[in-house]
Order: sequence, then C-alpha cells, then structure tokens
Amino acid sequence: MEQVIEVLIEFSILVFMRHASHISFDPRYPTVEDLRERARKRIPAFAFDYLDGGCNAGENLRRNRSDLEKIILLPQYIKEYDGCDLQTELLGQTFEAPFGVSPIGLQGMIWPGAPDLLAAAAYRHRLPFILSTVGTASIEDISEITEGEAWFQFYYPADAKVRDDLLQRAWASGCRTLVLLCDTPTFGFRPGEFRYGLSMPPRLVWRNLVQMLGRPAWTMETLKKGPPRFANLQPYMPKRLNLAQLGRFMDGFFDKRMTPDKVARIREGWKGKLVLKGVSTLADAELALQLGMDGIIVSNHGGRQLDAGPSSISALQQIAPAYKDSMTVMMDSGIRSGPDVARAIASGARMTFMGRAFMYGLGALGSRGADHTIELLHTQFRQVLQQLGCERVSDLPAYLS
Ligand SMILES: Cc1cc2nc3c(=O)[nH]c(=O)nc-3n(C[C@H](O)[C@H](O)[C@H](O)COP(=O)(O)O)c2cc1C
Repeated sequence: MEQVIEVLIEFSILVFMRHASHISFDPRYPTVEDLRERARKRIPAFAFDYLDGGCNAGENLRRNRSDLEKIILLPQYIKEYDGCDLQTELLGQTFEAPFGVSPIGLQGMIWPGAPDLLAAAAYRHRLPFILSTVGTASIEDISEITEGEAWFQFYYPADAKVRDDLLQRAWASGCRTLVLLCDTPTFGFRPGEFRYGLSMPPRLVWRNLVQMLGRPAWTMETLKKGPPRFANLQPYMPKRLNLAQLGRFMDGFFDKRMTPDKVARIREGWKGKLVLKGVSTLADAELALQLGMDGIIVSNHGGRQLDAGPSSISALQQIAPAYKDSMTVMMDSGIRSGPDVARAIASGARMTFMGRAFMYGLGALGSRGADHTIELLHTQFRQVLQQLGCERVSDLPAYLS
C-alpha cells in the first residue's frame, strides 16, 4: 500500500512539473538538507555515516558551514538589468555555471553507480566532474561518458611504475586536467568508520545485512549494478580487503605525504592542466605557484582531515586576494546551496565544488538525483544573481558587504 501511494505521489509530482515550467527539480526537495534527510532513510547507516561525517568531533565540518553563513552579499535593487550569464571559463574549458562535483572515494558504495550517474549529469549540464583515484569507476569509463571533459583526482602511488601507468591511462583516456591531492598525509580520524568497520565491498556481517535489508532501494540497485570496486586500482591490488587490510594496502600503495619534489615530479610528467587540491594556507598556496600549478582548490576535504584546521571559506578569504591573478583559485567544503556558491565566488573563487550535496541527491532520488541537485543549485544560484542585480559571475565580488 505504501509503495502504491509513493508511485501515485511520484506521478502527480511529474504531472505538476510538466505544467510548472519554471521548476525543473522535484519540488518536494527544494533544499540540499531535504535531500540529506531522505538519503539518510535510503542509504545503510555504515555508508551514510561514511558520507556524512567529519573527523574527530566534527568541529571543522560545522565551522565550514558557520563561517560561510556569515558572508553577506548586498543587493543593488535600483538599476537597469539585462539578465545574468552563468557561464564560467577556466583552465581551457567553458562551464554552464561555477559549480561542479568534488571527487569522492568509494562513491558507488554510498549509492550504486554514483560516479557514472554524476559524471553523465555533469556532462549533460556542462559542469566539471572530478573522479577520485579511489572512486568506483575507472578513468577510462568516465572519460568515455564525458568525452574527455572529466578531471582526475590523483593520489600519489608509491611505486613509480604504477604512478606512470595511472597517469598514462588518464592521459590516454582523454583527461586533460589532473587534480593532485595534498591534504591526506594520514587518513582522517573518523569515528563513524571505526564504529561500522567500513570495508570495500561492504562486509556481509549481520549488522550490515540488517542495515541493507532496511534500505531496499539501495540493496536492489547494488544487486543490479554489482558490488562496488576500486575500478582504477583493480589491476594493481588484491581482491577482497577488510578495513584493516585495506588500510595496510592503501598505506603501502600510496605515498600520501606530498613534498615539493613529488609535486614537481608530477608537474614534469603531466602535459595538461595541473591543480593542487587541499590547500588551506598562504604558505601552501605560494608553493603551489612556485611549483607551476595552473590552479588550486582551497579545501579541507569537507572537514574530514584536521578538526582543528581553518574553515575552507576563511582560508579562501586569505588566499584568493593574494593568488587569484596568478592561478585559478577554486574552493570546496561546506557548500550546500546557490547562495553558498555565490558567497564563495564573491570571496574570490573562480569555481566551487561540492561533494556531499550531490551524493545526498543520489541517495534521496536515485538516478534522478543528479539532475535534480544540479537543477536545484542552478535555480538557486541564478535567483541570487537576479536578486543582487549581478549580470556576470565574475562581477560577484562587487556585491560582498
Ligand atoms: C565520503 C567522502 C569521500 C571523499 N573522498 C575523496 C577522495 O577520494 N579524494 C579527494 O580528493 N577528496 C575526497 N573527498 C573530499 C571531497 O572531494 C570534497 O573536498 C569535500 O566533500 C567537499 O566538502 P563538502 O562535502 O562539504 O562539499 C571525500 C569527501 C567525502 C564526503
């Protein structure tokens, strides 16, 4: 009975959306928080906690939000206005709006088929999509879906042969923007991952099985798509690993601490655009410039690495004025809405990214979730520009209070 009612509601919503041509997203979920709440009910707790949580006490996770919320934009209501243009050009590509999809490890465990769904939607909407080295789709498959438009986030393999092979695979697949991660010298201390004994694929122990049974949509999709795999690392790794084995493998496989030498080595070997992700201080931004980066993503990994560290937006406020004219400065961590995108761009970012927001969308609405979240953010962002009286994305800094 419950399912029949759900189908009837879905149907009436679709009819409503056809007639309400100004709305292109599902009006039942007009905020990312709504998506999060529904996703929580549809994703098993071990995977939802992995997505949702921060490190330690979650203080930097909250600081990312509270510092963003403090940023005030001032409207200019009395003026001629010719409408707004959301297009954003950077690193040799043109995007439809200044937001894109951050790289997420183990993505397909959070929602089955997540990287393919998000990459396809980002490509349809002409937005940037970044695939994680430890994502669950290969760079070859994602490059095919996006015709080479996707970016590849690179964890630094310890073995030079594997390193060269991965870089060569990314290049051969058509990828031209590499995102080198620098904020994971160690794994973040994340209580949820200890609590649930996270593994890839998920362990079929009683506690996880009970959680999966309580989340039939996730379980059916997982059965349809097959268990998630580290698709990029498949050629180099043993088959089934629990958390302890995975930790040991990853520890040995990746040489996680970035040094100037390692960054320089990647710069030397990569002919395309190179972006350093995880910058949160002026000192690291300066090194990025000295080492020849084309851009940086100011980020604290969504508050998952250093609880005592600065919020991402406060780092951006320091870094952007000093470096936005010499590198492409971008930002993620804490962004949940169109107004947040506008706040970050007004504070000096050229592009923003979101990790959790898109994953909540998939969790809440399955394959419809990617388009829904993009259209929601697009609508919200456009509305902010219209309210401000801002015609171009690049004019946003003029509206900062
Ligand atoms: C579950 C999860 C897994 C992540 N895995 C990666 C990863 O493999 N590589 C990476 O560069 N960043 C990773 N990140 C960080 C995101 O790329 C991004 O910086 C962060 O999610 C932005 O914060 P937001 O979720 O508040 O938007 C991960 C984030 C989450 C939530």
